Amino acid sequence: MRILVTGGAGFIGSALIRHLIRDSDHEVLNFDKLTYAGVLTSLEPIDADPRYSFIQGDICDADAVRSAITEFRPDVIAHLAAESHVDRSIDGPGEFIQTNIVGTFNMLQQALGYWRALDEAGQAAFRFHHISTDEVFGSLGDEGYFTETTSYDPRSPYSASKAASDHLVRAWHETYGLPTLITNCSNNYGPYHFPEKLIPLIIIRALAGDPLPVYGDGSNVRDWLYVEDHARALRRVFEQGAPGQTYNVGGNSERRNIDVVRTICETLDRESPRTDGKPYADQIGFVTDRLGHDHRYAIDASKIRAELGWEPIETFEDGIAKTVRWYLDNRGWWQAILDQRYDTGRLGKGK
Ligand code: NAD
Ligand code: TYD
Repeated sequence: MRILVTGGAGFIGSALIRHLIRDSDHEVLNFDKLTYAGVLTSLEPIDADPRYSFIQGDICDADAVRSAITEFRPDVIAHLAAESHVDRSIDGPGEFIQTNIVGTFNMLQQALGYWRALDEAGQAAFRFHHISTDEVFGSLGDEGYFTETTSYDPRSPYSASKAASDHLVRAWHETYGLPTLITNCSNNYGPYHFPEKLIPLIIIRALAGDPLPVYGDGSNVRDWLYVEDHARALRRVFEQGAPGQTYNVGGNSERRNIDVVRTICETLDRESPRTDGKPYADQIGFVTDRLGHDHRYAIDASKIRAELGWEPIETFEDGIAKTVRWYLDNRGWWQAILDQRYDTGRLGKGK
């Protein structure tokens, strides 16, 4: 198949592309604007492969998207391009509205025009796969799980913009018959994760000897999924999922933030001990909470397991150990980001 991936220079998009080039025969076109979060070095392991190509472009640019689609003639559009960080959405929601809502609208319009011109077999085979988040469902208390039928209740500018984009995708299926798929996934972690997000931020700041900022009292819970498990889920969904369907993807790995941070510290104590012999946990500090901080996310992933046979392989403990090892072995990748783009300082205090 020919897969057009938007946002392929990002954390999850690059994991998907590495997976597709290494483990499938599919051809991939990466369409990415290269915002602050787009890192082409994340594709170095596969970028010499003739089945991979790259176009720098903005999903809000109708002409650029149309010509990429017309020339590449995809069987699948896997749409991952987005502004993805909750804290940045608090400081500056405008880009989130543009890219996540207007950009998804533009992708849908260009996909629809292309799909309508395909022959019958081409139309039947085509899929528009929209990659979304469990944050659209809002915040859980200590009990319960998000299912595919949970009501939408987004609470941050980021999750509201993703919820809006999910609604647009559903509308283009119901109204125009575009063969769409939606996946709503829990928090990802793993190699090539941009240092603004909790897990890489803690690893990098710990190694620098900096304070480790835990928002609020650290009791907020996220359901962590290793990014390579997510990449396998995405492929399974666009290869085998039923058009019009939505699938929840989760890691069965709920952890409180403070426990995630402590696990990282303990892993570093073993893998790269502090020169003064003290534990990295001494650097942990509790800081002012995030505005509107969602308490808990947890996914019920039984539909994708029952219907498509996907489940996560990686345990949280093994996944964290691999991730910490990767950051220790790949300082060049993240040091370039710290030097040029983002220094791990606090975001999202509101302006
Ligand atoms: P990311 O921020 O690491 O990467 C986003 C990529 O999109 C970057 O390469 C960036 O350059 C590109 N991009 C941004 N605006 C663009 C535009 N206007 N045109 C073209 N490209 C643009 O994000 P990620 O963590 O890889 O997330 C990918 C997708 O998965 C997003 O849609 C996100 O909402 C969703 N998601 C993320 C998580 C998570 O834990 N990270 C969980 C569930 C769902
Ligand atoms: P994050 O990685 O930003 O993902 P999301 O907000 O999409 O869940 O944050 C994960 C959790 O970690 C979230 O509850 C906020 C918290 N957090 C901290 O405690 N300290 C930090 O420095 C960051 C970035 C996040």
